[in-house]
Amino acid sequence: MPTPPPVRKAVFPVAGMGTRFLPATKAVPKEMLPVVDKPVVQYAVEEAKEAGIEQFIFVTGRGKYIIEDHFDHAYELESLLSSRDKTAELNSLLEDLPITGSVSFTRQQKPLGLGHAVWSARHFVGNEPFAVLLPDDLLVGKPGGMARMIEAYRSVGGGMIVAAEEKPLAETSRYGVIEPGAIKDNVIEVKGVVEKPSPEHAPSQLCIIGRYILSPEIFAELDRQERGAGNEIQLTDSMARLIGRVPFHAVLTGCARYDCGDKVGFLHANIAVGLSRPDIAPALRAILKEVSG
Ligand code: UTP
Repeated sequence: MPTPPPVRKAVFPVAGMGTRFLPATKAVPKEMLPVVDKPVVQYAVEEAKEAGIEQFIFVTGRGKYIIEDHFDHAYELESLLSSRDKTAELNSLLEDLPITGSVSFTRQQKPLGLGHAVWSARHFVGNEPFAVLLPDDLLVGKPGGMARMIEAYRSVGGGMIVAAEEKPLAETSRYGVIEPGAIKDNVIEVKGVVEKPSPEHAPSQLCIIGRYILSPEIFAELDRQERGAGNEIQLTDSMARLIGRVPFHAVLTGCARYDCGDKVGFLHANIAVGLSRPDIAPALRAILKEVSG
């Protein structure tokens, strides 16, 4: 099997309005809400970095400028930490900074849907395969979700890859759902995909979660700007139109996944990540026992 072209770029669509998390998201982007002590978006960037991604493209919208600030130097803070000899804090801030020139921002202007957000990044991506990470889906695992997807991308010879998770039938109407073909280990051939089907129309319970590897052909499909479910320009509709022309697989990543765009999912993530952190786990465990007992 020929080696597919490398996946060097990742798009982070962060232009959504976060209506499920109001009023927290009125002035603060949901991607900046912290899970323990790190904004949700930083976990996604670290996952992409771990997978070998070199260029990070953010699709932002109104009121999202603090995401840009987060990935930039904060001179006053850095000099304050330095003058107070808070070396560990300073080093950790500096280590998290992306290399100059590796991060770009573009605006979606109107939140017309995920497909439209990805299309907004077309000039930054150009003519090469690329990853898409929805930061409000937090994947926790070693190796991370995107690293596992890139491994699958190589093993099947390229094409489109999505991360999938088996969900209860009652929840299919919240996801893109795949029609599965041949299954090998954790990689499933995708024969079709339906956006937000009612349980009786769902082709399976395998739901697409917020990680994709796409081939550049997707942009010609997104150019059509066709509206789908919820009157939004859906990414999955364009992916479905490429079936037969571009190989398409789903990967069960084996990672734990938390929907941080949802209040309960966000609290779940904070508890799970908190309990995995030796510095705070004992105190958190004691609190959980107290409030639930
Ligand atoms: P969601 O549907 O979870 O985001 O989109 P939302 O619209 O902000 O959420 P609610 O339902 O109103 O609470 C999944 C991802 O796609 C991005 C979001 O920022 C999120 O990362 N997105 C969605 C865009 O960038 N643009 C859009 O037009 C829609």
